[in-house]
Amino acid sequence: MKPVSLIQFLIEERRAGHINTELSLLIEVVARACKRIGVATGKGALGGVLGAAGTDNVQGEAQKKLDVISNEILLEANAWGGHLAACASEEMEDPQPIPDMYPKGQHLLLFDPLDGSSNIDVNISVGTIFSVLRCPDDVTEPKAEHFLQPGTTQLAAGYVVYGPSTLLVLTFGHGTHEFTLDREIGSFILSRRDIRIPEQTGEFAINMSNQRHWEAPMQRYIGELLAGNDGPRGRDFNMRWVASMVADVHRIVTRGGVFFYPLDAKIKSKGGKLRLMYEANPMAFIVEQAGGAATTGRERIMEVQPTGLHQRVPVFLGSSQEVEQATRYHREAD
Ligand code: AHG
Repeated sequence: MKPVSLIQFLIEERRAGHINTELSLLIEVVARACKRIGVATGKGALGGVLGAAGTDNVQGEAQKKLDVISNEILLEANAWGGHLAACASEEMEDPQPIPDMYPKGQHLLLFDPLDGSSNIDVNISVGTIFSVLRCPDDVTEPKAEHFLQPGTTQLAAGYVVYGPSTLLVLTFGHGTHEFTLDREIGSFILSRRDIRIPEQTGEFAINMSNQRHWEAPMQRYIGELLAGNDGPRGRDFNMRWVASMVADVHRIVTRGGVFFYPLDAKIKSKGGKLRLMYEANPMAFIVEQAGGAATTGRERIMEVQPTGLHQRVPVFLGSSQEVEQATRYHREAD
């Protein structure tokens, strides 16, 4: 079969009526920006971009953290194309308007420019996560409140993993698809169409160091997995934790599994660790479109009515049977 490039795929999606020209352009621009972020992360120490912002590199030049650079790359790439009404990012308190000198479009873009950034200095996979919403028709100067739409209204969501290969995983609500960057020709090529996450799994991902702080239903659920063959589940489970959500979710999208960042006593006042608008919602959309499930432990993530741009929520996602069981334990305990 002939390889299908991202551009070809977007044309097919347009012809199928799944996206319009503006959304197609938006995805092309985001994908191009992510290639540049991939190049910057790939340079590592040679690019003088490791470590914290505010420090000098070996040449005595001021260093910029890679997450700041990634944010600038995405903002700059998206400013002038005419496809966006505004952007919002993990790196910025308030949404970024489109400069007056450029035309405006109908879309709102939210992103975590470099997720898992604590892993950069140790050369472990990091990624970019993004979500696309429609700007309300009557709004010309979008503010934070215009971004506060539930995940069910997302028009598109995706992530890019900067790992041994650079991969883009994308959904428009018609299945989840994976593209691998061909570094020789510089194009993303369709590598898996209509990904399916198995309903059952024997693998879970959680930061076990927080165990003593979890709520009782989480203690019960993980306790049963850890009891393995001898416990109520009657089989052994394996555990993995990369601490880059993109890498952990990509493993689940590839071979199944279940990911948890539950509430715990340390983060309870914040509502959770991960951000609803640019981490939980896009990942939930991608996982559900691949046949998986995504909840806060109590409700479907994509049905949460957002109250803040940087709101945090607990996240349970992946193989549906495990997400449902852990969610049931929490609902029963309430
Ligand atoms: P950050 O982008 O600040 O490095 O946060 C990473 C997120 C997410 O990617 C990952 O799943 C989780 O935080 C890791 O949390 P722990 O540090 O508790 O392992």
